[in-house]
Amino acid sequence: MVQVHDKKFKVYIPKEELREIVSRLGKEISADMKGKQPLICPVLTGSFVFAADLVREFDFDAPVSFIKYTSYSGTQSTGTVKVGLPFPTDCTGKDVLIIEDIVDTGISMEFMLNELRKLNPASIKVCTLLFKPSSFQKDFKVDYIGKAIPNDFVLGYGLDYDDYGRLLPDLYVIDE
Ligand code: IMP
Ligand code: MG
Repeated sequence: MVQVHDKKFKVYIPKEELREIVSRLGKEISADMKGKQPLICPVLTGSFVFAADLVREFDFDAPVSFIKYTSYSGTQSTGTVKVGLPFPTDCTGKDVLIIEDIVDTGISMEFMLNELRKLNPASIKVCTLLFKPSSFQKDFKVDYIGKAIPNDFVLGYGLDYDDYGRLLPDLYVIDE
């Protein structure tokens, strides 16, 4: 059990299982990207730990450009997306791979996809460590999913509760 701010959390996906998930995703993406050098766009801040592990499972080399879009405050989506770091203009004509920590309502990713499409990339693939199918409200395709989880707030392995909890090596779920 850990306490972050006012809430208690318990281990939900231990680091050993995270390692297996990341290794499987690395193989899937490497197989699909044969002969390609996608521009890898990890979404800050939440995906920095996952992306750092995932890219080291790839069997190809490729450029990395961080983007930052935020929508969460506390344990709730605010529904509005703020742009911290936009997609780089050199996405035009490139195969782009977005790496996200979690797709929850889908509002953030849909916003990002709309921004990216304006730059006319050659192709777009979305990879997320976690996906909450019961809270997803959109209809875009998530190409690579680490694990589908129930609609409970999680933290650790890069994911935060108001900026804390990111450094925990396991993934935790809120304990109510
Ligand atoms: P969405 O726009 O509702 O899909 O939310 C996506 C963003 O909200 C993710 O990039 C996360 O930063 C954050 N988020 C969603 N669910 C959680 C959670 O359970 N824990 C921590 N952050 C979350
Ligand atoms: Mg995020």
